[in-house]
Amino acid sequence: MSEKIIIDCDPGQDDAVALFLALASQDELDIQGITTVAGNVPLALTERNARIICEIADCEDIPVYAGCPRPMMIELVTAENVHGSTGIDGIDIFKPKKEIENKHAIDFIIDTLKGAEKDSITLVPMGPLTNIAMSIIKDPTILRNIKQIVLMGGAMREAGNLSASAEFNMRVDPHAAAKVFNCGKPIIVMSLDVTHKVLTSKERVKRIENIGNNVASATADMLKFFARYDSNKYGKDGAPLHDPCTIAWLLQPDLFEGKECNVRIETCSPLTMGHTSVDYWGVEGIKPNAIWMQNIDDEGFYDLLIKRLKKFS
Ligand code: RIB
Ligand code: CA
Repeated sequence: MSEKIIIDCDPGQDDAVALFLALASQDELDIQGITTVAGNVPLALTERNARIICEIADCEDIPVYAGCPRPMMIELVTAENVHGSTGIDGIDIFKPKKEIENKHAIDFIIDTLKGAEKDSITLVPMGPLTNIAMSIIKDPTILRNIKQIVLMGGAMREAGNLSASAEFNMRVDPHAAAKVFNCGKPIIVMSLDVTHKVLTSKERVKRIENIGNNVASATADMLKFFARYDSNKYGKDGAPLHDPCTIAWLLQPDLFEGKECNVRIETCSPLTMGHTSVDYWGVEGIKPNAIWMQNIDDEGFYDLLIKRLKKFS
């Protein structure tokens, strides 16, 4: 039976590749809709970019919703320095034919969950968690029908990438992250600890480019742009490919290894705001609330991604 999912994103080149992977996998993934949030770039761009990606993939039937234009409590911080001014620099931007849905993303998430069976819908957030947290706040009864939350965010063994101690998605909206990690539903965490092990090396980007269809070419072009910032920052061949790890786990969970543990989010300290405090060895004896992914078969990950991108030929 296919997995009913809602993808919440802030495209972003890595979000875009995650969308391509999901759109190529609709036999296994029943995509209820794509919701967008302010993050890498402002909402007006993330919602447009999600529609562009759907159009490149010829999947204009998937509805795209615009959500929250800013975090719950603090000012929005964006990442044009990483993603470029469009958010998906590397490809030509065009005005998508596909319109944004009229319904707010929060109302779409609530309506979809209220109409679903118990524990039946997987949420796949890969940006700041504002939409997810605000949906739960607006209607807590939706928790009943959430099966699990597979999210990209956080860091424990890796240093922060927006502040010294916090990963971007958690730091941009720490209050939303705290709400989600306290919601009581199963959470699968793809943090920097694991995403830094799936680098977009030149050889891998070449393999993607050689596929020779529109989606693969767009992916390669975006990754060439996306890699420049992190390659320089980390001194490695390629950039961590963050968001597609969420979709890859849904498709092939045996690529990953992780551990049940308790994760809490710092929401008070200006110095460590958004830090994911991970009790990996259970030293504080607090009930685990997440599976923290630590290892990945990176070759297997890229084999999966390339195999799925070939489906657009
Ligand atoms: O820290 C990486 C995360 O922040 C990714 O989801 C990237 O797209 C940005 O949203
Ligand atoms: Ca993202």
